[in-house]
Amino acid sequence: MLRIEHIGIAVRDLEASNELFRKLLGSEHYKTESVASEHVTTSFFQIGESKIELLVATDPESPIAKFIEKRGEGIHHIAFEVADIHAETARLESEGFIALNREPKRGADNKLVVFLHPKTSNGVLVELCQSY
Ligand code: CO
Repeated sequence: MLRIEHIGIAVRDLEASNELFRKLLGSEHYKTESVASEHVTTSFFQIGESKIELLVATDPESPIAKFIEKRGEGIHHIAFEVADIHAETARLESEGFIALNREPKRGADNKLVVFLHPKTSNGVLVELCQSY
């Protein structure tokens, strides 16, 4: 793993949270992007070499809607940048981690992503990401 690429935060109201994080971080979000396959709209803030990704559900079937229903707003996942997502997924599976999708999919911000099940990582949803 190369670094923490971003931390994903589930929010109910993207506009209000953009404003909140603008005040918190002292900078504007630089991008808003919808990922139809995930039923989310995302907003990104750059903070040093890492980012904050705000996620809002676009419909009730969204994983973000279900997360907020169960646990409320808050930290949803930690994303680690990797150099070779196929090799890293195979390595982690051999260590007993469970990949939610074994074949990398296209996520927000020009990334190939694989998610690891939170039950194999202390309740933390882990995202592996590789730029393309
Ligand atoms: Co993410």
